[in-house]
Amino acid sequence: MDAFIDGLMSKMTIEEKIGQLNLVTAGEATTGSVVSTDVESKIKAGNIGGIFSMTSPARIRKAQELAVKESRLKIPIIFGMDVIHGYKTIFPIPLGLAATWDMPLIQKTARVAAVEASADGLNWTFSPMVDISRDARWGRISEGSGEDTYLSSRIAREMVIGYQGDDLSKNNTLMACVKHFALYGAAESGRDYNTTDMSLHRMYNEYLPPYKAALDAGAMSVMTSFNDINGVPASANHWLLTDLLRKDWKFNGLVVTDYTAVNELIDHGLGDLQKVSELSLKAGVDMDMVGEGFLTTLKKSLDEGKVSEDDINRACRFVLEAKYRLGLFEDPFKYCNEDRAKKEILTVEHLKLAREAAGKSFVLLKNENNSLPLKKQGTVAVIGPLANTGANMPGTWSVSADLNNTQSLVEAMRSVLGNKVNIVTHLGANLTDDPALQERSTMFGRTIPRDDRAPEEIIADAVKVSQEADVIIAALGESSEMSGESSSRTDLNIPESQKRLLEALVKTGKPVVLVLFAGRPMTLTWENEHVPAILNVWFGGTETGKAVADVLFGDVNPSGKLPATFPQNVGQLPMYYSQKNTGRPLAKDAWFQKFRSNYLDVNNEPLYPFGYGLSYTNFEYGAIKLDKSSISKTDQIKVTVSVKNNGNFDGEEVVQLYLQDLVGSQTRPVKELKGFQKIFLEKGKSKEVEFILKDEDLRFYNQKLEFVSEPGKFKVYVGTNSRDVQEAEFELMD
Ligand code: BGC
Repeated sequence: MDAFIDGLMSKMTIEEKIGQLNLVTAGEATTGSVVSTDVESKIKAGNIGGIFSMTSPARIRKAQELAVKESRLKIPIIFGMDVIHGYKTIFPIPLGLAATWDMPLIQKTARVAAVEASADGLNWTFSPMVDISRDARWGRISEGSGEDTYLSSRIAREMVIGYQGDDLSKNNTLMACVKHFALYGAAESGRDYNTTDMSLHRMYNEYLPPYKAALDAGAMSVMTSFNDINGVPASANHWLLTDLLRKDWKFNGLVVTDYTAVNELIDHGLGDLQKVSELSLKAGVDMDMVGEGFLTTLKKSLDEGKVSEDDINRACRFVLEAKYRLGLFEDPFKYCNEDRAKKEILTVEHLKLAREAAGKSFVLLKNENNSLPLKKQGTVAVIGPLANTGANMPGTWSVSADLNNTQSLVEAMRSVLGNKVNIVTHLGANLTDDPALQERSTMFGRTIPRDDRAPEEIIADAVKVSQEADVIIAALGESSEMSGESSSRTDLNIPESQKRLLEALVKTGKPVVLVLFAGRPMTLTWENEHVPAILNVWFGGTETGKAVADVLFGDVNPSGKLPATFPQNVGQLPMYYSQKNTGRPLAKDAWFQKFRSNYLDVNNEPLYPFGYGLSYTNFEYGAIKLDKSSISKTDQIKVTVSVKNNGNFDGEEVVQLYLQDLVGSQTRPVKELKGFQKIFLEKGKSKEVEFILKDEDLRFYNQKLEFVSEPGKFKVYVGTNSRDVQEAEFELMD
């Protein structure tokens, strides 16, 4: 590779090198304002290195032909896209996938996404998104794996392996792009694109590991984030992109900015376009997404001595290396195969996996008196604004989904249940009473019809329809575009219009099941008190509706566990289980104590803790056992617990292990996830679950940013979620 690229670069003019750094859209779906014009002539002139959001083998072939036949040096183009949770076969939103805690399954979903997208001409995906977020106001919490460092790191790895396979040059793999580097999920106030300001200690221990895990798994590209980090925006942050990423982490792949992130440095206040392009290149950015600041200013900056040829060569080399690794120099058309596009997209197997993944992502939040599963008989009323919309089922960031051919919940339930169950349905309430808010929340074709009558009239009609039914399923919550990019919210309740509907449905006295659609943790205090059964289904992708039927009627036993804490109210945010103790912790089980760390008006507990999720069966945990009470740094310790399925259904359980470092040179979280196992148990069966803890599990970044373990006592917690655990203690000896 080195010799080939040396040879090629020796023939390139400076303009051609700068051209490689230019990533454009050709007019397709965009999240910002600048769209490159004159793409064809730019390709011929060697002014384009990559195109994103262009699909189909025929179109891609045409663009590639311009590059490899009509540009001077015939350098192929790289084709990228946001393939976030599936390509045409859409899987649950990433937060939902995280709720499966099923690593082989997650890897398979990424593999299928890569097969489909590469069959349609693509070779690069802007995924995985691994930004830790502990503030559910932030709409993009839906796109990541939630609040936890360990879980997110494990998932990051699986996604990269799924996309890239064992050989990036194969025609069915995609280059992964880990994003958004870095700390994008810690945006102040949960407002998108907002500032982050964070100690190094927190970064290293809590926020950076998932990016690193993706790189360790071989991710060959990184996307810089929009946000400011401690005073220097990520896309111009030399410490982040060069000192940390290149020097410490030894990353040797491609660094691309987010959408117009170079240009946005102007609004961040770093200078004009020429200046910010210079800063960004010198900080370590190789490729400029959409904004063309590099294309239009770097030559001038070179002539003026503000950037060096070495800077440009470095960036150009990383772009060319990515193309080389993808095998594009060998065969620029290897991803352009119409036959594959016809055969390998939306296959029966892919849809089967999507249905399985959706069913496994659902989290049963409440199931009083075993209200669920339902019997396949009688009349069921499916009421609510989410009941009859196919377009919202794929969830946010599913740009290539076929919205017209995605079944709504009601359509899917009818197709699964046939004539065993009579299904009646009604809108019941508008998504929200405010038409302007509804419009903002249903963009990109994710429409939900409105009824312009007074809310009471709509509710009254829905109640009338429900009177015929034996059971009411309330399909409520967020529309898919109420989460995702630029969809932050300050109120995380189910919108008021729908809440009033739910109250009316509960008042009928009939059994009510809340099927909650959500792209984030929501605040459900009222619902938890008044509705007997709550199934949180996120947005499950193409097969959402069928999977909901599978779970509601007992063909699938829910096993999802929350990857993010559900607070009681927004005022508790940011909220996460792995918090520090403070010097004035609230006494265990106390509601309020004066001069202790708490609130006057609400206790410190979440509504549903991290790792929480019920099953139709019951898992009984035996006593936690450690094989040693102390270990040295070269030793390991075995933790075992027996788990028994003593309920009436076969089912899966996620057995979770947390650690607490009791005394150290610095404060440590009250609990940190360090292991989990998803096990299947037939009813009546039990299993010994075993975890091995080693010194590396006990390490953390100390004040000098050394990754060390410190002798002393540790607590081990094992349980069904982060709150309901048993504990044991051991000591790490010097
Ligand atoms: C988003 C990225 C995405 C990019 C390209 C941006 O607005 O932040 O996640 O990859 O657009 O579509």
